[in-house]
This record gives sequence, C-alpha cells and structure tokens, in this order.
Amino acid sequence: MYDGFEALPFTPEVEASTAQVWEKIRAKVTPLEWRLQAPLISAINGLKRHKNAVILAHNYMTPEIFHGVGDYVGDSLGLAREAAKSDAALIVQAGVHFMAETSKVLCPDKRVLIPDLQAGCSLAASITAADVRLIKQRYPGLPVITYVNTTAEVKAETDVCCTSANAVQVVEWAAAQWGVDRVILLPDEFLARNVARQTSVGVIAWHGRCEVHERFTAADILELKEAYPDAEILAHPECPTEVLEVSDFAGSTAAMSDYVARRQPRQVVLITECSMADNVACDAPGTEFVRPCNLCPHMKRITLENIYEALVKEQFEVTVDASVAERARLAVQRMIDMPPPAAPARYDLVKARRHVDVELI
Ligand code: 13P
Ligand code: SF4
Repeated sequence: MYDGFEALPFTPEVEASTAQVWEKIRAKVTPLEWRLQAPLISAINGLKRHKNAVILAHNYMTPEIFHGVGDYVGDSLGLAREAAKSDAALIVQAGVHFMAETSKVLCPDKRVLIPDLQAGCSLAASITAADVRLIKQRYPGLPVITYVNTTAEVKAETDVCCTSANAVQVVEWAAAQWGVDRVILLPDEFLARNVARQTSVGVIAWHGRCEVHERFTAADILELKEAYPDAEILAHPECPTEVLEVSDFAGSTAAMSDYVARRQPRQVVLITECSMADNVACDAPGTEFVRPCNLCPHMKRITLENIYEALVKEQFEVTVDASVAERARLAVQRMIDMPPPAAPARYDLVKARRHVDVELI
C-alpha cells in the first residue's frame, strides 16, 4: 500500500461517490481492497476537477484505475487521439513512458505527468535514434514507419508512426506515397512479420520484442484449445506469427474489446497482458474469461497510489526537447490524420498470402 500519505478514510461520502465503480468492478476486487481503493478513487477524481486534469488510461491498467479514474481509456492509438483533442491543462498518463512522451509531443503546451518514471517498455528500449539513422543510410529512399512504442527521439527520425490497430493501413499508405514496394517497419519483429502477412508490400524489420507477448507459443494455444474446446482465442499481433496462426482472431487491444462486445462469446481467452481481460470482463458479464496471461511489469508500476501522488505533487513531468518534439510530431500527426479504420483492424492470417517478404536486421 502507498506509504507516502496515511491511508485515506472510507467514509459514507466516499462510498456513495464510488458506488457505480464498485458495481462495475466488484467481481475483480475484494471488499478489503475496495476500502483502500475507494477513498483514493474519490480523491483522484476530486483532484482532477480541481486541477483541470485528465487521466489517459491504457487497456493494461488494473480495473480500479481503468474503470475508477480513467477519463479516456483504450489502446495506444485511441489514447494518442484523445491526447491530441484534450483541452485539459494537465494530462496524467496511466500507461508507460513512451505513451506520455507521445502525449507531450502532441500537446507541447500542456503539462504531462507519469506516476512512475521507470514505467518503460522492452520495445521502446530495443532501438535508438542512432540505430534508425544507420538503417536509413543502409536503405535510402524507403519510408521509415515506427510503432508508437518508441522514444520521441526515435519518432523524430521517422516518417510516420503506426500502432497495431492501423499498421497495415500505414504500411500501404507509405508504400503508395513514396512509390516503393518495400518499407522499413520498426522495432517489433513479430508485429512486422504479422503485418507482412496482410500486404504485398515488403517489410524490413528490426529485432525488437514485447517481453509480454513474445512469451506465448503456439503450443500454449493448442493446449488451451484442447482444455477449453469452446473458447474463442484472441491474440495480440505483438505475439509470434505461429501464435496468431492457431488463434481464432488477432487484433489490437481495442479490436479484442470490440470483438467481445460485438460477438459476446460464451468463453474467451485473451492472449495478451493480464489486466486487459479483467477490464473487458467488467463490461461482459455473459462471457467467461479463461485467464492465461502475462503481466507487463512496466504497466504494473502504475497504481492508484502513485496516480494520487502524481496529482498532489504534480510529478513526474515528462518533457521532450523542442526540436525532437517538432520532428516527432510530424510522424505522429500523420498517423492521427489518417481516417480511423471503420472497424478495429484484424489480422487475418488464415486467409493471408503464403509468400511473405520480410528482411530482419
Ligand atoms: P495496443 O494498445 O496499441 O494494442 O498496444 C498494446 C501494447 O502492448 C501497448 O504497450
Ligand atoms: Fe511494452 Fe509489451 Fe509492456 Fe506494451 S506490454 S508496454 S509493448 S513491454
């Protein structure tokens, strides 16, 4: 429990002001936990109003954050779009550092806080701006597309950003704009391989991996299918291609939520970070969630306690050098300006092409 302040009291006023949140998450939180969480939720929501602040919460936040204090919740693409639109004075990023940098790049005049500066990402750590400059020298004339899971310095070397929700669209757009049949797509090897299965554009890929999704194997999925033959298996495209091939559906975190909301499967498995299933389950009482999942240690650094502390002390401010931000903004804004996909993009590997042109560097 947070040790910087005394635990806030669970008063009748707190209970009343958080009753709707409790109804939503009570299946995921014990009454003992709730008596500690509810006062923080109430205090955070009061501080947000007082300080004209918003909280952008990623789908991998725990349910008390996601459903209790998130003003905008969603996938990386959705959060970037919300940051761009926000008129709040203060943005608290309930997510990881690259997401906070993206918000700062899009909103240079706002203060952007992250509750824990150590909330990193193995993909963002896998590549530097110097790496990208060398890659550009090696493949002159090819557009550089980077996943938003990168630092602002890397984005500044980039032509356009993408997320897993729009990567195929961005790859095809860039190939057409540059008049080329190959693009550079950094830094997630598996996302690049999965995108390449969806398009005739060739892909030059980097060897970055998400430490959460790379751990899933096709054998895990086959084992799950045997144990839960009726379950529908949804996987994130940061997983290895072999995992997607034996899953029933693949898409970004938003696409997975959308799948459950629209299809209301009786039983489902989400092959992604653990909290995602808890958050979706709160809105899908008719669906049973089988829960093999991996925790993202970076996402899990964000807690109600450090969000509260971030708002009280207005810490930790995320800054991006102005010239880096200006160049990074072009790449992110190009992505934001693309029309949003009609439905969240799915990775349909079953019907995908057999020949796939991927060069790994
Ligand atoms: P999306 O929310 O874009 O699917 O990304 C998942 C992820 O791993 C973010 O860190
Ligand atoms: Fe990075 Fe993977 Fe964690 Fe997302 S889940 S923040 S991609 S390590």
